[in-house]
Amino acid sequence: MRIILMGPPGAGKGTEAESLVKHYHIPHISTGNIFRELYKDKTTVGKIAKEFIDRGELVPDDITNEIVRHRLSHADAKKGFLFDGYPRNVNQAKAFDEMLISFGWKLDAVINFSVPDEVIVKRISGRRVCEVCGAVYHTENKPPKVENICDVDGGMLIQRVDDMEKTVQRRLRIYNQQTAPVIGYYEEKGSIIHVDGTKSIQEVDQTIKKVLGEMN
Ligand code: AP5
Ligand code: MG
Repeated sequence: MRIILMGPPGAGKGTEAESLVKHYHIPHISTGNIFRELYKDKTTVGKIAKEFIDRGELVPDDITNEIVRHRLSHADAKKGFLFDGYPRNVNQAKAFDEMLISFGWKLDAVINFSVPDEVIVKRISGRRVCEVCGAVYHTENKPPKVENICDVDGGMLIQRVDDMEKTVQRRLRIYNQQTAPVIGYYEEKGSIIHVDGTKSIQEVDQTIKKVLGEMN
């Protein structure tokens, strides 16, 4: 399976990705997670990326595309992959098409989550992530078993720096200007599946697995 999850910040891409990658045994490739890891590892690219992320802006395309190209060359990508948060503008979508051609691969599905802005703001304000493994929780919608502690590895749950309300508004503006046109790009290719992302985590998961199951 080669899948892309698209949608505004806080739409539920990362949450659904965790379920799909277990189901299909494929790697989860989140450019946002890769940038956060690179920053944790104190790399130069990580430090550059963090400046853009903290302002709620996109990391430049040359850096992002190079990271994706490198990630696709890992052996595990041969069995399929799930992209979450890439491509994020039409230039990246075109660059990604070229990469897929060079590897001789085709996408199976592009899934787009539709979620209105007011729901997004509520979701992001309640989001907590594990500082060790990045697992995603929500204070009301997906609480951990023990408050502020990750169920997976016991790590502390924290709020992302770019989840401050002002930065979220900026991320939403940039999503509408730069990322929303990617939906049209894949619609023209006839390969996009729209999902109502306002439903519960379980309902979204069941809907997507049903659609993907019918395609196989
Ligand atoms: P990234 O990490 O990709 O952030 P994002 O796209 O803004 O998306 P989020 O991670 O905020 O939301 P999500 O859709 O994963 O939602 P989640 O599942 O957590 O990117 C961060 C930054 O990195 C970007 O701003 C940019 O600077 C840079 N970057 C990344 N990729 C790039 C690229 N390709 N090019 C350039 N720059 C790039 O869910 C949110 C909350 O809601 C959680 O608390 C969850 O528990 C809860 N929730 C989820 N689903 C549901 C549901 N169905 N019902 C109720 N609650 C739910
Ligand atoms: Mg995410």
